[in-house]
Amino acid sequence: MKTIYNARWIKTPVSGDGISVQFTKCFDSRNVRRATLNVTAMGVYNAFVNGRRVGKYVLAPGWTDYRHRLQYQSYDITELMKNETVVAISTAPGWNALYRKDFCDDVDCEKEPAIIASIDIKYSDGSSECVLTDSSWSVYSDAVVYSHIYNGETFDETAVPEKFGNAVEFDYKKNILIPQQGEEIREIQTLDAKKLIITPSGDKVIDFGQEITGYVRFKIKGEHGDKVKILHGEMLDKNGEFYNANYRGAKAEINYTCDGKTRVYNPQHTFFGFRYIKLCDWCEEIRLENFKAVAVSSDLRRTGYFECSDAKLNKLFSNIIWSNTDNFLDIPTDCPQRDERLGWTGDAQVFCKTAALNFDTKKFFTKWLDDAITEQKEDGSFPHVIPGLNWDEKPSAAWADFAVIVPWTLYLVYGDKELLKRHYPMMKRWVDYVDSVSTNHLWLGGEHFGDWLDFSPETTECGGKTDKDLIACAFFAYSTELLINAGNAIGVDVSYYEYLIAEIKSAFIKKYIKDGRIVCDTQTACILALKFGLCGLDEENIVKQLVDSIKEYGHMTTGFVGTPYILPILSRYGYSKIAYDLILRTKFPSWLYSVEKGATTTWEHWDSIKENGDMWSTDMNSFNHYAYGAVAEWMYGNMAGINICEDAPAFKKIIFSPETDERINYVKASVDSQNGVILSEWRRGSDGRITYTFIVPENSEAYAYIGGKEIKLSAGENIIKE
Ligand code: BGC
Repeated sequence: MKTIYNARWIKTPVSGDGISVQFTKCFDSRNVRRATLNVTAMGVYNAFVNGRRVGKYVLAPGWTDYRHRLQYQSYDITELMKNETVVAISTAPGWNALYRKDFCDDVDCEKEPAIIASIDIKYSDGSSECVLTDSSWSVYSDAVVYSHIYNGETFDETAVPEKFGNAVEFDYKKNILIPQQGEEIREIQTLDAKKLIITPSGDKVIDFGQEITGYVRFKIKGEHGDKVKILHGEMLDKNGEFYNANYRGAKAEINYTCDGKTRVYNPQHTFFGFRYIKLCDWCEEIRLENFKAVAVSSDLRRTGYFECSDAKLNKLFSNIIWSNTDNFLDIPTDCPQRDERLGWTGDAQVFCKTAALNFDTKKFFTKWLDDAITEQKEDGSFPHVIPGLNWDEKPSAAWADFAVIVPWTLYLVYGDKELLKRHYPMMKRWVDYVDSVSTNHLWLGGEHFGDWLDFSPETTECGGKTDKDLIACAFFAYSTELLINAGNAIGVDVSYYEYLIAEIKSAFIKKYIKDGRIVCDTQTACILALKFGLCGLDEENIVKQLVDSIKEYGHMTTGFVGTPYILPILSRYGYSKIAYDLILRTKFPSWLYSVEKGATTTWEHWDSIKENGDMWSTDMNSFNHYAYGAVAEWMYGNMAGINICEDAPAFKKIIFSPETDERINYVKASVDSQNGVILSEWRRGSDGRITYTFIVPENSEAYAYIGGKEIKLSAGENIIKE
């Protein structure tokens, strides 16, 4: 049992909006053989031992709902100990600021920065000691004068630490404490400043050339008391002016006071989503080499790579990787910049397969799904965001279905049955919830987001044109189907759900298919029916309905719900050429439209910047939302043709079925799976013939489908000429 459970929760004796403090403890520590610091906070912290920063975790301890779970970290601090040791834990509100009346329905966790810690010491003479947090710890003011997860940070180099008093002990649950479970958040890349821009109105703006999540690190030597003020933005507007009206309530600013010495500073307890910074106040000559953009993210191992002969598609893929990186910050977030940055469940289910190909996300998603288990409501439903914020909400189809889709996807990619077993009860309770609120096997009249942000010219509703009940019924079927698959994989009885799925399907077909057509005539309605096997005898007709609609509009009209499946569905039914038309399209609406407009991450809207250069609006316009990036699933799975087989997860069986297109000369993709590296490449030679290269891991069974033929592949490299 870790000693941290013996410690007392302590908090600051003073309160204040955005207050950041140092909890300190000084003790004798001669002849130490080994020392370990276990610590966590309600808020975010940086730990220092004798003035040296401990570990590399940024924004520790990450974000969980403190009512249920809180990760603590253990650091080996042996090397930092002296005869007398000072431990200081600088702590700010971090995500805890969101648990307040102004943002959510208040919850019962501590509102001011609070920590709990233990220091386990073993001495050379064999004795040991444990220093625990209690009211003997002191609380000092911090150089971080104000800290807010959305508003930014105020830092004063001239500040002299002032003792606020002793820490205040308080009673709070300790059974919420768990060892670090997810990936640590780390600084993962440092980018140089690319350009100093003086805007038409005279603003001084630095462009880092890439939108990131993180912060700026600058070097400065101002006079004692000189002030710096920096704002963050994702875009310039059509006049070339600095723009961040889309951050809504998030001020996202740095206010910094110089002390006359040369200093290197970066914010300690907050982060921003940005590509540009505006120097509102800067007290010396602007030298680009004094500015770096530091990208922070959960420390995920990159596993997926893709390139092809089309530079714009390569840029799209790069944007997808960046939006993935930028929005995997301990939890999967919708966006990193405005006053949101929340674990929206719908976005995560849409993107989880792409993410699991791009990166090893097993640990990351496991932690988030374990968060979800604790947040499942008594009736089996879920909050819209995990960690939940106590909103008064009814579950939305396609959002709450994450509870089945994400665990099943993890199983397909990583093949871990134990994990699936752990998540199965949650999956089942969700399907049971929908079953309990459905009428004659149809989920009607719920409160749903719909095909969020679709692009049907006929509607301006965010929820799109597709009937929300139809979406709900379709996802009821899909989740039930996946639950059956999961139950079969782990060997539990699913006979009730086999009965249920048959009923849902026939109820769906009866209600939504008339005269060979989906009654709600949208692309998303057709796609869902096809993807989830809800067409009955009218599969071909509904494929035609979909294809006709794409031809009629000349483009996709899909939103968050339909977009991830549209290209895979077209490919599945032999319309690979149309799928290529859509992905290669550069005119609005399309994926490459944003690339042509200079995007460096994927956008929330197809038209976050409109054709005339105007912004979509200030209300809800993120330039860093990963949902539409789910198209990478098709890039890996169809362009390169690397497919996961549902009957042999974790790439134990691989079907390579690359789809070539005359507009593309080569495609190369690889996935460093748990089973080994998988690679698929095709290249058109000068004679017009295509050469395929496949790399198959030792323990995989693999086949290639080329020109209608099935070819058994062997482990290692396989080269096949058309
Ligand atoms: C978020 C989305 C989310 C949605 C719910 C938005 O504000 O940014 O990505 O899924 O709300 O519809």
